[in-house]
Amino acid sequence: MSLTHDVTPSSDVGLAARPAWRALVAHHATIAQAQLRELFSADADRGDRYALEAAGLYLDYSKNRITDQTLKLLAALAGECGLRERIAAMFRGDAINTTERRAVLHVALRAPASEKIFVDGVDVVAEVHTVLDRMAAFAEELRSGRWLGHTGKRIRNIISIGIGGSDLGPVMACEALRFYSQRDLTVRFVSNVDATDLVEATRDLDAAETLFIVCSKTFTTLETLTNAHAARAWCLGQLGDDKAVGRHFVAVSTNADGVRSFGIARENMFGFWDWVGGRYSMDSAIGLATMIAIGPAHFRSMLAGFRAMDEHFRSAPVERNLPALHGLLAIWNVNFLGASTLAVLPYDQYLKRFPAYLQQLTMESNGKHVTRDGVPVDFETAPILWGEPGTNGQHSFYQLIHQGTRLVPCDFIGFCQGLNPLGRQHDLLMSNLFAQTEALAFGKTAAEVAAEGTPEALVPHRVFEGNRPTNTLLAERLTPATLGALVALYEHSVFTQGVIWDIDSFDQWGVELGKALALRTTPELESATEPALAHDSSTNALIRRYRHSRNNSRTA
Ligand code: F6P
Repeated sequence: MSLTHDVTPSSDVGLAARPAWRALVAHHATIAQAQLRELFSADADRGDRYALEAAGLYLDYSKNRITDQTLKLLAALAGECGLRERIAAMFRGDAINTTERRAVLHVALRAPASEKIFVDGVDVVAEVHTVLDRMAAFAEELRSGRWLGHTGKRIRNIISIGIGGSDLGPVMACEALRFYSQRDLTVRFVSNVDATDLVEATRDLDAAETLFIVCSKTFTTLETLTNAHAARAWCLGQLGDDKAVGRHFVAVSTNADGVRSFGIARENMFGFWDWVGGRYSMDSAIGLATMIAIGPAHFRSMLAGFRAMDEHFRSAPVERNLPALHGLLAIWNVNFLGASTLAVLPYDQYLKRFPAYLQQLTMESNGKHVTRDGVPVDFETAPILWGEPGTNGQHSFYQLIHQGTRLVPCDFIGFCQGLNPLGRQHDLLMSNLFAQTEALAFGKTAAEVAAEGTPEALVPHRVFEGNRPTNTLLAERLTPATLGALVALYEHSVFTQGVIWDIDSFDQWGVELGKALALRTTPELESATEPALAHDSSTNALIRRYRHSRNNSRTA
């Protein structure tokens, strides 16, 4: 079989009508059968030519199924879609989140204090730095042991409660930067409304030594508020005094009234703004747990890494612009090669939560079915993103990537120096990364397999078609700055893809229906009397079965 597809839009309006898109369609027809083996043998410098470096990250994109012409046309497409103007609009603070009429200014979170960005006449950079300074002072109090709990004990455990963008970023960053963290502080996260999450996170802890950070942009999210109330009950159950809340709970939110009605005082609240999207907020006060874990200096160096990539994205020409190019290659793989998925494979154990973080960043941003004008798209949008750290994935799902019937483009991420040198282990890790990209690109032909003396019947089983596209991202070491640059790279790649598809990458209406239906269903589950159910027959039957089992278990 051959992993070639034709999923390009057929209509002659919108994206499909753009000259560069049409040219890409025609170009695709000419190189659809191109093999990476041939492309590499025709150009001895391909590995050097198709590489870019910015903000401490080196991207080798040579193992994509592209030619100079592909790159030229993708850059032309970016021009026709107004990528440069849209980047400028984002950095200016225009309300580019059109369905929510909001600016999208996560770049302001890492702007230096000397910069000014105005939203509704207010310099948001000054506000960002005021909050950063407050966070730093608070983090230092905790790290030094000066912040004491209600009974006078030192705080040793931090539990951050949040979900989605108020959880995944700090979870990922705390894990990614664990090497730099203060080891006598335990940092845990609770997100799921499944009580197990909170119960397991608190079961071995002393409330007198535990501080909760309640993170919610809206401060209305069911999961977070439910967990926060349960955490307060757990805390007060041990400490026995309502006043303890003041020493054991702080909040991160844009909703000061909500925080106050929960009982958290204004001085224990760290604010952010509606122009920070949840999935773009790990470098705002939502990152408070990260700052406590790694300290304000490392947090600021993470921000500097973000900033370096921001500046590169804002100023570099598209052809030499790392996030723009990364995004355009995704467009090529999704819309022209028919890939419906992207595997992100970090060869660093500290990045084990990075794919989960990217899932929200990419799929909540670009998993959309209409353009900004509400017109249904006739092309694929965000690929399904997933991944696991190498080398674990190799012994699990790589079989499908190498020999399955689906095209799975992969991003490999690795570091030249490991943080925990131990014998040959880092060389073993990285040789596996390099070997995988080589195997995926070049495969092994039937002739090569047969030449090894493989019995004829086994030859087809041992053939590797190759021609699987990959990107490789290399950096010197995993540092706070590298992590910031890496996250900003994906943020801006997602932005680029959204611009090409002409979708609003900053709203998330798709999460609303399920939330509303759950609100309707909860009272039906909890009702003491048998409720009249008006769902479909499947949902009705499931609810009845659940109620029956639940009621039986209560009377047993
Ligand atoms: O349900 C999705 C979502 O709205 C995300 O976009 C957001 O990151 C998450 O919920 C949490 O929202 P909040 O920070 O307001 O609790």
